[in-house]
Amino acid sequence: MNIIFMGPPGAGKGTQAERIVSGFNIPHISTGDAFRAAMKQGTPMGLKAKEYVDQGLLVPDDITIGIVKERLQEADCAAGFLLDGFPRTLDQAAALDDILNGMERKLDHVINLKVDRDLLLARLTGRRICKSCGATYHVIFNPPHREHVCDKCSGELYQRSDDTEEKVGTRLDEYINKTAPLLDYYDRKHLLREVNGEQEIDAVTSEINSVLRGQA
Ligand code: AP5
Ligand code: ZN
Repeated sequence: MNIIFMGPPGAGKGTQAERIVSGFNIPHISTGDAFRAAMKQGTPMGLKAKEYVDQGLLVPDDITIGIVKERLQEADCAAGFLLDGFPRTLDQAAALDDILNGMERKLDHVINLKVDRDLLLARLTGRRICKSCGATYHVIFNPPHREHVCDKCSGELYQRSDDTEEKVGTRLDEYINKTAPLLDYYDRKHLLREVNGEQEIDAVTSEINSVLRGQA
């Protein structure tokens, strides 16, 4: 199963991706996670990406496409993949088509998580992430049992530097200007399915599962 998760920042792509990949036994490929890991390690690519990520801007296409191209050729993608946060521009979408054509593969589903702008702001400014295992929480909507402590591994929770109100505004503008046009692109290919991302986390997961299993 070859899947793309689309949706604005804070729509729940990462939260849902973690749940869906375990059911389908496919890797979760998040370009945002890849940039944050490279930034933490201080690699040349990470330093370049940091200039953009820290401002809430999209990283240039050539860097982003190169990462995904390499990753899709790894052995664990043979049975399928879930792309989270890629593609985000029309040029990235065209490049993905070329990469998949070259591998004689095709997309099965593009899921768009729909969430209203006001709710996105509340979700992102309240998000907390585990430093050790990367699990995602929310101070109100999905709190850990102990404040600042991960339920899964007891790691410390932190707030992403691009989750401030100002950066979230820039990220939402980037989404509207550069990424939203992709919805038409995939709709014309009859791949796009909308899911109501404003429901409770479990309800969103079951709606996505129904779509992927052809029951909706
Ligand atoms: P990236 O990491 O992809 O960030 P994003 O798209 O802005 O998405 P988020 O991770 O912020 O949100 P999400 O939809 O995964 O929501 P989550 O599940 O965490 O990208 C970061 C940066 O990297 C970009 O700004 C850019 O610079 C660069 N980049 C990445 N990919 C790129 C590309 N392709 N091209 C160029 N640049 C790229 O949920 C959010 C919060 O809400 C959490 O606290 C969660 O607990 C809570 N929540 C989730 N679902 C629910 C629910 N149903 N009800 C209540 N709360 C919920
Ligand atoms: Zn953890």
